[in-house]
Amino acid sequence: MSVKILMVCLGNICRSPLAEGILASKLPENKFIVDSAGTGSWHIGHKPDERSIAVAKKNGIDISNQKGKQFSKNDFEVYQYIYVMDNSNYEDVLQLADNKQQTEKVQLILNELFPNENVDVPDPYYGLPNGFDSVFKMLDEACDVIAKKFIEKHG
Ligand code: 4NP
Repeated sequence: MSVKILMVCLGNICRSPLAEGILASKLPENKFIVDSAGTGSWHIGHKPDERSIAVAKKNGIDISNQKGKQFSKNDFEVYQYIYVMDNSNYEDVLQLADNKQQTEKVQLILNELFPNENVDVPDPYYGLPNGFDSVFKMLDEACDVIAKKFIEKHG
């Protein structure tokens, strides 16, 4: 059975689609399923923000076929690992958790790079275009750590 991992941000158009594409590119497809979702509902069914599509493409990753979805309680049953991009996503997701087992599935993604520091991936939505390059770089570094760990554990 595949290991299922969910990346979560607010809109599911900027950060989590990148995190999905980056992590999927580092893991063998036959053993891992990587998805993404937003805590908000504005972008259900939408493709990622053009700036995320562009920065991914520049780095050899195609995220243009992704479709926005909203995080739901059922995702705690579907996914073994849930990575959130910032502290606000963390609060929003934990609000929907029913028990400790579900709560423990949720991790801030940058804690993989900076353990226990609870650093946010900044939301690049309203910012300058190069915000997307810096978001790509931090997600790429975090996903290197995650992929290595998962391949050791489940590969
Ligand atoms: P994301 O960025 O959470 O990284 O996808 C956002 C994109 C859109 C909105 C908020 C955040 N929005 O309010 O529409």
